Amino acid sequence: MPHQILLLFGATGDLAQRMLLPSLFGLDSDGLLPDGLTILGTARSTLDDTGFRAEAQSALNKYVDADRLKPELVERFLARLHYVPVDSTRPGDFAALADKVRELGRLSAIFLSTAPSLFEPTIAGLDATGLAGDGVRLALEKPLGHDLASSREINDAVAAVFPEDRTFRIDHYLGKETVQNLLALRFGNLLFEPLWNSTGIDHVQITVSETVGLEGRVGFYEGTGALRDMVQNHMLQLLALVAMEPPAEFAATAIRDEKVKVLRSLRRIDRETAASCTVIGQYGAGAVSGKAVPGYVDELEKPSETETFVAIKAHIDNWRWKGVPFYLRTGKRLPSRQSEITIQFKDVPHSMFAKRGAILQPNTLIIRLQPEENIRLLLMAKQPGLDRDGIRLREVPLDLGHNALADGRRRIAYERLLLDLLAGDPTLFVRRDEVEAQWEWIDAIRDGWTANGMTPRRYGAGSWGPSAAIALTERDGVSWHD
Ligand code: BG6
Repeated sequence: MPHQILLLFGATGDLAQRMLLPSLFGLDSDGLLPDGLTILGTARSTLDDTGFRAEAQSALNKYVDADRLKPELVERFLARLHYVPVDSTRPGDFAALADKVRELGRLSAIFLSTAPSLFEPTIAGLDATGLAGDGVRLALEKPLGHDLASSREINDAVAAVFPEDRTFRIDHYLGKETVQNLLALRFGNLLFEPLWNSTGIDHVQITVSETVGLEGRVGFYEGTGALRDMVQNHMLQLLALVAMEPPAEFAATAIRDEKVKVLRSLRRIDRETAASCTVIGQYGAGAVSGKAVPGYVDELEKPSETETFVAIKAHIDNWRWKGVPFYLRTGKRLPSRQSEITIQFKDVPHSMFAKRGAILQPNTLIIRLQPEENIRLLLMAKQPGLDRDGIRLREVPLDLGHNALADGRRRIAYERLLLDLLAGDPTLFVRRDEVEAQWEWIDAIRDGWTANGMTPRRYGAGSWGPSAAIALTERDGVSWHD
């Protein structure tokens, strides 16, 4: 049996260095990569195998904990790496690539981690040289377009060569352990599901806050903004997993069918409602973690109306979620790095403790993805004592820390996704109809911003965004869970 090949486009790029090579190294160290798997890198740089291995070695040194870099493991991993230069805009380069693939073994999967403008020529080049057939799977990294029309164009170009069941669209949030744990929590326990609807839940919050600014990604971020960078993909995927009906099995079609139903039930935010249901912001100079940082336009060195913060009040128009707001918020240069889903349950219908002076807090479930992964349920419990001056109840957390469950190190989300790609399991990848439903909702919001002349409000770096984002929830009597 010829050796399997994983072909990596954009092999010298940022994602490969920071995530993909460290993930593949992690899998290899744990003996999880298929025997003899060869990783063939390509990019425009004129490197050979040795040059690429040297680049990979420095990426590992930079992004993997030193105690995991055992020389024999590093050496074994580097020996898997090969390289052939390809400029995807030059169809002729694909012949050399095809030769190298034939020399090395059998192509199993391709990972495109390049600028989206290169997707079409790359796919055409693969097709022309016979590298797209024979069960080869294609993984695509975001951004898959900048609106519905451009995403359709990319999807059509892909579909002309790779059928949907061999197309693996990455949303790295789906590779995060806590995101999958959300499914275990909801559908592996009887406890929550009967209350997981408008009878039991007051509202849901999803916050993905970051402390970083542009991080040298000016070219990509400017003109993209927070809505398309974070909400269109990661946050809507989280929302879909929180809100979906129970799938019949943990399998690609069952799960993705349920997610797409949610995405299609999102109430459209349009020209009428964009101003009341969304808030956009852009960070100015300020301080994050005690360090002075410049504003977005200072980093950019030109004026800009790109939003680095967005808050949205969303609704899902179906039976289960009637009247339950989903508040979404994401931004750069916020006070802390914190990604979490907060499920706020309703008050008990009647408090029998009221006349004894006890105040009840409604239950809260917090599913935290970052910085640490854990799930925390806040419950009311009695404070020990003889209660001579009334009963005292207190909110106490029931913690399900990742450490309590994990039997090893915390993995990079891409480790799971790369392994699933190699195994051909699409459950944690995004189907075309999901992406398109996501874009449809996002495009309407953007159209609403334009029609209403909405531009980002300034917020100081290190704050929780413009004050209007606080007003967005406060007028419903809700506070953001900071
Ligand atoms: C990426 C965005 O998709 O997700 C980045 O393009 C963002 O802007 C990143 O920083 C956040 O990912 P994580 O896993 O660090 O929350």
